[in-house]
Amino acid sequence: MKVGDRHFRTIWLNEDGQSVDIIDQRWLPHDFRVATLASVDQTAVAIRDMWVRGAPLIGVTAAYGMALQTLADPSDEALDAAYELLHETRPTAINLRWALDTMRAHLKALPPEERRAAAYAKAAELADEDVELSRAIGRNGLEVIRRIAETKKPGEPVNILTHCNAGWLATVDYGTATAPIYLAAEAGIPVHVYVDETRPRNQGAYLTAWEMAGHGISHTLIVDNAGGHLMQHGEIDMVIVGTDRTTADGDVCNKIGTYLKALAARDNNVPFYVGLPSPTIDWTVRDGVREIPIEERPGEEVSSVWGRTEGGEIAQVRVSPDLTPARNPAFDVTPARLITGLITERGIAEASPEGIARLFPEKAGR
Ligand code: MRU
Repeated sequence: MKVGDRHFRTIWLNEDGQSVDIIDQRWLPHDFRVATLASVDQTAVAIRDMWVRGAPLIGVTAAYGMALQTLADPSDEALDAAYELLHETRPTAINLRWALDTMRAHLKALPPEERRAAAYAKAAELADEDVELSRAIGRNGLEVIRRIAETKKPGEPVNILTHCNAGWLATVDYGTATAPIYLAAEAGIPVHVYVDETRPRNQGAYLTAWEMAGHGISHTLIVDNAGGHLMQHGEIDMVIVGTDRTTADGDVCNKIGTYLKALAARDNNVPFYVGLPSPTIDWTVRDGVREIPIEERPGEEVSSVWGRTEGGEIAQVRVSPDLTPARNPAFDVTPARLITGLITERGIAEASPEGIARLFPEKAGR
């Protein structure tokens, strides 16, 4: 997507042909910085410390991490070690395991001397594929927005609430939850996006708001607790979020707070949609609440916020007493029964084992 006049993806091969450039998301919206990853160790730090984040982008970054490993040592043992290092970075997004499995199986089928070129080619293929998946989600989600727009008076916007950042910054390009929004705006359908700030990491305030502002999409930032109130007053027409892992039965794991939005949406008859590419489906898991590992991040993220001071410095300030401990589960699970539809690259699935199996018959039951 565009940053100023230039088109950027979130990750690309450096002009040296070996290292990998990423948008370093830690500094947004205050500063747009690019970082270069030159080793698998650096890649692991970039994923763990959230220089890059969002399930699809985590997967593609890990794929490039495997490619970086082949520069140093393409042996089976080295690939296994790189796999483990990258896999340990973040536990919830299933795209990470999917990308690592894809890369390792592809590379191990080749002799070591062919692995370097093959690794870069495969990582690039996964990146391109991710862009296509997002675009397809966008086209399918656009139809949902269009149907709601048809019920509105001319010029009245479709009011969409989103949580966290499932935007182009969370993927290689376009986003999952945001792709339909970008396409609706391009198609001239008036949309207005309510952006949950998404404490504690503020992905909504820092990243989604930056994306919306950068693309001229009408939007308003709200605190996480405002969504239910707006729904009660008829100010939200639909919710659309992303997901880090969706089970074969349709339970959706996403950023902490998603579940409460889905409960409020159900109580107010607001349709609740999830945008997801199929690599985000974990076919080995059915009961999301019991089976999906939920990342616990440092309490410091809750007891502090980052911002830009009047002097221009980007700094962290503490917001709670020094002696107060904080708990920081980063994701929650929304049960399938609260979800109106799963917007995938193949179409919109009902959030149920049968609904998902109908769209992905070759994967179901595995
Ligand atoms: O902790 P994060 O920022 O990686 O969490 C991101 C989310 O929860 C997104 O909604 C999810 O990964 C889907 S991104 C298309």
